[in-house]
Amino acid sequence: MIDPLGDFRRDKYCGEVSLEDEGKELRLCGWVHRVRNHGGVIFIDLRDREGIVQAVIEEKTSPDVYERADRVRPEWVIGIKGRVRRRPEGTENPKLKTGYVEVLVSELRVFNTSETPPFPVEEETQVGEELKLRYRYIDLRRFSMKENILFRHRFYQAVREYLVREGFVEIETPFLTKSTPEGARDFIVPSRLHPGKFYALPQSPQLFKQILMIAGFDKYFQIVKCFRDEDLRADRQPEFTQIDYEMSFVKEEDVMDVAEGLVAHLFRELLGVELKRPFERLSYSEVMERYGTDKPDRRFGLELIDLTDIFKNTEFKVFRSVIDRGGIIKAINFKRSNLSRKEIDELTKFVQKLGAKGLAWIKVEAGKLVSPIVKFFSQEETDSLLKRTDAREGDVIFFSADSKEMVYKILGALRLELARRYNLLKEDRWDILWVVDFPLMEWDEEEGRFVSLHHPFTAPREEDVEKLRLALKTEDLEEKKALVHSVRARAYDLVLNGEEIGGGSIRIHTTDLQEVVFKLLNIGELEAQEKFGFLLEALKFGAPPHGGVAFGLDRLVALMRGLDSIRDVIAFPKTQKGICMLTSAPDYVTPKQLKEVHIKVVE
Ligand code: AMO
Ligand code: AMP
Repeated sequence: MIDPLGDFRRDKYCGEVSLEDEGKELRLCGWVHRVRNHGGVIFIDLRDREGIVQAVIEEKTSPDVYERADRVRPEWVIGIKGRVRRRPEGTENPKLKTGYVEVLVSELRVFNTSETPPFPVEEETQVGEELKLRYRYIDLRRFSMKENILFRHRFYQAVREYLVREGFVEIETPFLTKSTPEGARDFIVPSRLHPGKFYALPQSPQLFKQILMIAGFDKYFQIVKCFRDEDLRADRQPEFTQIDYEMSFVKEEDVMDVAEGLVAHLFRELLGVELKRPFERLSYSEVMERYGTDKPDRRFGLELIDLTDIFKNTEFKVFRSVIDRGGIIKAINFKRSNLSRKEIDELTKFVQKLGAKGLAWIKVEAGKLVSPIVKFFSQEETDSLLKRTDAREGDVIFFSADSKEMVYKILGALRLELARRYNLLKEDRWDILWVVDFPLMEWDEEEGRFVSLHHPFTAPREEDVEKLRLALKTEDLEEKKALVHSVRARAYDLVLNGEEIGGGSIRIHTTDLQEVVFKLLNIGELEAQEKFGFLLEALKFGAPPHGGVAFGLDRLVALMRGLDSIRDVIAFPKTQKGICMLTSAPDYVTPKQLKEVHIKVVE
C-alpha cells in the first residue's frame, strides 16, 4: 500500500470529540486502546495524543466492518469513519472529555498491526523501570507520561514568554567546548582532526554566558542541555536541562527578582498557584543549624535543637567524649509520636547506616521519661534539656552527638526519614526559599585544598575581599582557613520542597580578583591559563559587573508534577547506571572509528 492513509485524513483528534460534534460524520485515527466484544456490538477505545474516544461497531449495520473490527488488537493503528452520537443514558463517562459521545463506525481501516506490547498501556503497570525504558515509546503512550511531556512543553513556552518579555535574548552556546568546572567529571569527545585532543561537553554554559555579558548582550537566556559525569540518583541525570540566564549591571536583588518572577509566572500559568513573594531568605548558617542541610524542606517541623551548652560539663561518657573533641550535641523532638521501641530501633539502624555511632533517645510516657540515657544526666541537665526541647507527653526526642558535619548529616537525614515514614508531608504543599550568605570556599580534607561552594567565578562580598588577599599572603594554614572560611559569597540557591532547583551568583568581573581566587583554590597560574585563559583575557577587555542563575528544569518540572524522579519528565532518560535502555548507549564503536579519532582502548 503506497498511500495507506487514503481518504482517512482525520478531521480532529480522538480526545477532542464532544457533544458539539453530535450528528457529524468524522474521520479519526489512532491506536486501539481496548476492544470489547459484546456479541453483535464491538466497542473500541481509540486513543491519540489528546485522549480516547469510544467507537461502536454494530454487526447489524455494517457486517463487514464488524468482521474486521473483531480482528483488531490493542495497539493496532487504525482509522475509522463514523457518525457521532450521544451515548445512551446511564453509559456516560464523566471522567473523560469525550465521555458523553460515541462514534458509530461505518468504515474501518487497519494502518498497522502491533505485536502484543511487553506491558499494557495502562496507568497501573507492575513492570520494572528498565523494561519501560527499553520500550519507552510504549511507556510514553500512557496518559500520565504523555501528560508529563506535554506539561514540559508548556513549561518551555512559559519560560520563553516570561524571559523574552523581561528583555532577555536567547543565544545558543557550544556543546563541543572546553571543560567548565561545576564540580563533576567531564564527558569528553575525541577530536579526529587533532590527534590526542578532546572537546569536553559543557557542565553548564557558565563561561560562555559570562563572555556574552562582556560582548554586551546585557540579558541572555537559554534552555540548555548540560552534561555531568557523576553518580546518578533520582534527581540527577548525566545530561539534564537548565534554564540559564545572565544579566549585566546588576546586584543580587535584580537577579533574584527575575528568578522569583519566572517561578511565580510558571506556577501561575501552569498550575494556577499564586506563590507569595518575595520568597523568604535564610542564611546558609541558619538553615544548616536548623535543618542540617543547605536545601531544607520546611513543610514539617522537626527542627534541630542545639544542646551542646547544656551538656558542656556532663558526666555521660558518650556526650563527654564528643564535646572534648570539639563536637556538638543536637536533638529533634518528634512531638506526640508515641513511637514504639521497635520503631525507635529501626530508626537507630537507619542512622547507623549513615555512619552514626548511635541514636540516644528519650520518650515521655505516662508522665515519666523512658530512656536508656537519662540515668547518666544530672537533674539540671535533664531539666534544661526538657525545657529547651519543649518535651511533653508522647514526645520522642532523638540525640546526635558527633562532629558538626556528622550531626548535620545524621539529623538532617533523620528529619526526612521521619517525614517519609510517618507521612508528615501532606499539607502546605509549596515551600520555597532562598538560601544566601554561603561561604565562598570550604576546606576539602581529602584533597587538602580549598574548594568553591558554587564555582570559582562567584564573587566574594566586597567587604570580604581583603580577607582573601590576606589569606593568600599568610603561610599559617589555620590562619588561612579562618580567614577564607569567613569570606561570604555573593551566591544564592533557590530551594523548593527540599530540593535545590536553582543556584547562581554575582560573578567576579576583574582579572585581578579572579586570579586571587584561582590561587586560593590552588589552581596554578599555568593551569589557570590553560583552562580559563580565554576568560581571564576577556575580563581584561571591559567586563561589566554581571550575575545570573541556572535552574534545574527537570527538577522543577518533576516537583510541579508531584513526581519523585526526574526520569518521569524526560522523554528518553538514562538509568541509574547511565544507560539508555532504548538504544543501549554507551556502546562499543568499530576499530575504524577508533582509529579515526586516534584512540586505542586499554581493557
Ligand atoms: P548548578 O551546578 O547549581 O549551577 O546547577 C544549576 C541547577 O541545575 C540542576 N542540576 C541538575 N539537575 C539534574 N541532574 C543533574 N545532574 C544536575 N546537576 C545540577 C540543579 C541546580 O540547582 N553555572 C551555574 C549556575 C550559575 O552560577 O548561574 C550552575 O550550573 O537544580
Ligand atoms: P552506649 O553507651 O554506647 O551504649 O550508648 C548509650 C546510648 O547512646 C545508646 O542509646 C546509643 O544509641 C547512644 N549513642 C551512642 N553514641 C551516640 C552518638 N554519637 N550520638 C547519639 N547517641 C549516641
